[in-house]
Parts: sequence; C-alpha cells; structure tokens
Amino acid sequence: MATTVNAVALDESPIPEHVAATGKQTVDPYNVSGEVGEDGVMKAIDYSKLVDEFGTKRIDKALLERFEKVTGKKPHRFLRRGIVFSHRDFELILDRYERGEPFFLYTGRGPSSDSVHVGHTIPFEFTKWLQDTFDLVIMLTDDEKYLFSEKRTVEEVQGYCSSNAKDIIAIGFDPAKTFIFSDFDYVGGAFYRNIVRLSKHITLNQARAIFGFNDSSNIGKIHFGSIQGATSWASSFPHIFGTDEKKSNAIPALIPCAIDQDPYFRMTRDVSARLHFAKPSLIHAKFLDALQGPGTKMSASIDESAIFMKDTPNQIKNKINKYAFSGGKVSVEEHREKGGDTTVDVSFQYLRFFLEDDAELERIRLEYESGKLLTGELKAICIQELQKYVAAFQERRAQVSDETVDLFMERRALRWVGNPQAPRV
Ligand code: TRP
Repeated sequence: MATTVNAVALDESPIPEHVAATGKQTVDPYNVSGEVGEDGVMKAIDYSKLVDEFGTKRIDKALLERFEKVTGKKPHRFLRRGIVFSHRDFELILDRYERGEPFFLYTGRGPSSDSVHVGHTIPFEFTKWLQDTFDLVIMLTDDEKYLFSEKRTVEEVQGYCSSNAKDIIAIGFDPAKTFIFSDFDYVGGAFYRNIVRLSKHITLNQARAIFGFNDSSNIGKIHFGSIQGATSWASSFPHIFGTDEKKSNAIPALIPCAIDQDPYFRMTRDVSARLHFAKPSLIHAKFLDALQGPGTKMSASIDESAIFMKDTPNQIKNKINKYAFSGGKVSVEEHREKGGDTTVDVSFQYLRFFLEDDAELERIRLEYESGKLLTGELKAICIQELQKYVAAFQERRAQVSDETVDLFMERRALRWVGNPQAPRV
C-alpha cells in the first residue's frame, strides 16, 4: 500500500482501498482523492479529467459573458477564477431566466458533525449569491449521514441538523425565499411519491456502477440516491410549487454543488427524461484543499486539516502558520532567486477563494512567483482574510436562534422572486 505524505483522511475513511491499491484519482460522493504518485505523494485533483470522464461541460468565457448579459450581474469570483468550473445545461437555465420562466435552486448538506469548516461554506456562499436572483430549497440529508457511517446514531445526526441549519442560515439566506428540510422529517406525501418513482427506475446494477456499491453495502445506501435525486423535482414541494404536478414537473432545478455530487444527479437526469420531468441543471465547484495541500479536501474529523467556522483568530493564525502547505523555497535566498509556486501553495489557493479583489490577487501572485513576497508574508495575508471571513460569519451565526431555524424549516409558500416578469407559482 502506498504511503502518503501530504494526504489527509477523508470524513469517513482514510484513503479508500481502491485508491490505495491502484493509486488512481477517485471522485465520487463518498471518496475524494487525487492520484497517488510513485513517490507516494497525492497529486492535485485533475479537474479537466473529471469533466471528460463525467461528460460535463466547462464553464467558458462565452458562458460567463452570457450570464452577465442576461442577469446584469458581474460573475462571482468563484466563476471568474474557475473555482465553479463545470456545468450541465446551465445555458438552459439562462434561457429560462431570459424568458421569465421559473426554476429553483437546490443544494444540500449531510449533517455529519457540529463542526462546519470553511470548505463546507463554499457551495453555500455561491448559492447565496445566486439566490439574490432565484428561489431556493436546501436539503439536510441526516438519513445519508446515518446510513454512510459505522458509528453515528439516528439521534446524533438529527441533533446536528439544527446546528448545521444555523450555520447555513448564517451564510445569509433570505427566509422568504428559502425552505430547509431534514429528510427524517420531510419524507412522506409528495416527496415520498417522487422518491419511489425515482427508485423504480434505478436497478441495482446501475447503482453499483454509479456509486461503486458491493454486496456488503447496506440496502439503505443503495436506495439513498433516490432521496437526494427526488429533491431535484419541484413536485416534491407542493407547498412551494403548488399541487398541479404537471405544472411543477416542468420547473427545473439548478443545483450548485461540489463536483463529487454529480453522480447522484447524472442518475436523476436520466430518470427525469424517462418520466418527462424537467431535468435538473448543475453547476459544479472545485474543492478547497486541506491545509496539507493539493489532492485532499478538508475533513471535519481532522482538526489540523481544516479551518473551522468556530475557530478563534488565534487558532486560524496558528493553523495556517503551522500546517498550510507552502509553495515557497527552502531558504530565503533560494526563494528570492527562484520564487514560489502558487499552484500548490495552500495560502495562495485560499486567497483565490476568499480575496474578492482581482487586481490585489494578481499582484500577490506575481510577487510570490518572482520571490519578492516570502512565504511568511503570504501566510500573513491569508490569515488576515480568513480571520475576516470567519469573524463575519460568527457575528451572523450568533444572531440565529432556534426560532429562526423553525421559520426556515416550516412548510410554507415561498415568495417567488425570480426574474421580475416570472409568474408566481
Ligand atoms: N450528499 C450531500 C452531502 O453529503 C448533501 C446533499 C444533498 C447535497 N443534496 C445535495 C449537496 C444537493 C449538494 C447539492 O453533504
């Protein structure tokens, strides 16, 4: 088995057996790891390869220009910098937006623990930004986090729901446009009908091929994809989209998610076509590297791998200084002469995610690559940005009460604030 130097174990398991055995890049909902090189070091995720393997499309300049033209919004920094980099049928959503036709946003989170880290906030930050234009449904897959863990109890994951909902709300979602639900509570009625419709169209063979299940996988795991998938259908939410399923099934979802969630929705899109329901569109984000470097993602269960949204300014500082993988040279002299490598430097990568100012980011890149900026100085900038990001979050989080959570989770009609010309549903 290959030993990995800068690899960090994922939420549930260390390097999955098949990765350790083959050394291949693996990206699915349960495993994310880069290729393990001959030296035993994990490489960065090759996103380009994923686009080809998954059959998604790259988000290119033309699409971004169209986005800006249609919505009148400057693309988010994640879009400008290729962090949100791939999509399925996003142009169809823009067509609908242009014509004033409805669609909704759907994203989710498995409440696996109380500790949300900065990586978890990326898809939500992006979704919040999209929400300024569109409606939203957020799914909390407590059932998933029970089924896919050896240890957690039902009560434990249900308990995480409320604190995770508070974290999500603290990103800044609008209660008039947002419905948050827990699977354990919401399954039944229209949603369950759709879950069963989806499950009827997936064979065991397909589930195996898509998710890599085997004969020892519990049957709940095999079925779970129909729950995550059925949330893509507007008719699962009659209190938002009405009880006329013919009408609501014509309303597509736009799903912002990290690329590892794509397999669920590839499957859902196939079934949607067979049922004549609107296929969901997707827009995919890259992962935020763990502090240990490219090829890994932050893990909620490994404190040294992540910056948590609960961390104090001092903890952030210490973690970056101590653990953040550096692209700098070994000695100051060599660094001054040859410059640092921003493509692997974790502090620089974090700045790409969190520093808003494009010109400032470019200045930092050039200075680090030319050797003018030293690793310690780059880390100091990164520390400052992350401290700001986390402190602002903590301030908003402190305002979110149990009543606020109840409000977001109540089954109710949402205000339809799509395109101003869009019909109310
Ligand atoms: N499976 C996701 C997780 O483990 C949660 C999730 C459910 C999700 N529905 C989604 C994520 C839609 C993105 C988009 O956290």
